[in-house]
Amino acid sequence: MQLLDGKSCSQQIREEIAAKVQQIKASGKRAPHLAAILVGSDGASETYVANKVKDCEEVGFTSTLLRFAESVSEAELLQQISQLNDNDQIDGFIVQLPLPSQIDEHKITVAIDPGKDVDGFCPQNVGNLCLGLPTFVSATPNGIMELLARYHIDTEGKHCVVLGRSNIVGTPMSILMSRNTKPGNCTVTLAHSRTNNLKELCASADILIAAIGKAEFVDASMVKPDAIVIDVGITRIEDASRASGFRLVGDVDFAAVSDKCSYITPVPGGVGPMTRASLLQNTLKAYLR
Ligand code: GUN
Repeated sequence: MQLLDGKSCSQQIREEIAAKVQQIKASGKRAPHLAAILVGSDGASETYVANKVKDCEEVGFTSTLLRFAESVSEAELLQQISQLNDNDQIDGFIVQLPLPSQIDEHKITVAIDPGKDVDGFCPQNVGNLCLGLPTFVSATPNGIMELLARYHIDTEGKHCVVLGRSNIVGTPMSILMSRNTKPGNCTVTLAHSRTNNLKELCASADILIAAIGKAEFVDASMVKPDAIVIDVGITRIEDASRASGFRLVGDVDFAAVSDKCSYITPVPGGVGPMTRASLLQNTLKAYLR
């Protein structure tokens, strides 16, 4: 079994981006600029957004964090989005999800200028992805494609099972793996919680991408010998043996599955860092547009 080391791969991507930013600045131009809207103080969202700001600093991007109270109105958020759309000093921006219940997430994502939608969540970018047109691909699927590419994994003709059908990960992932690209050209099955014979189906996968959000859901019986296993999940579980009192696990039972497969992404250090690097890639792309 070989580890697909997202940490070192993402570090390489960050270094490439930082070198490009240095060139840009040396030529007298301004740095790429990412803005992030954070509503409320959900712990996970706070961490994700803090990481995004830190990543921007590390590669030399400018970043702006715009905070709103949990009670913010939809109109206020739409007003902020409109300002960001019109601000030519901002290349791309994200609205961290989830949003509080008074806000319609769909109304928010459709309001973002597709050329600044570095999350790739708006209908135009999702549509472009389906049509194989230039677009911003959402960060996690984009990061997984990059990881497969950088490890030169041959995916052509293989059966890829994507477990989970979210708009952010499972659905775009299934489209990307089915396209006539490298990596890609897979025969894809998009499986989910209502799929019949889920275990047998997963066990028929040459490439299994687990994005179902259930800790250690995929056991060894669900994995074909020598399969390629990509684990998108990340869940904190209690662990009294750790100083922190918890540890992070994926959607795959790593200890059981790693002996059986050919490649696997660790958790942490697999898909997560690649997702972070993808947002930087998309921001640079928005800047260069
Ligand atoms: N919430 C969880 N993942 C994401 C992401 O990639 N982008 C945004 N905007 N919100 C998220």
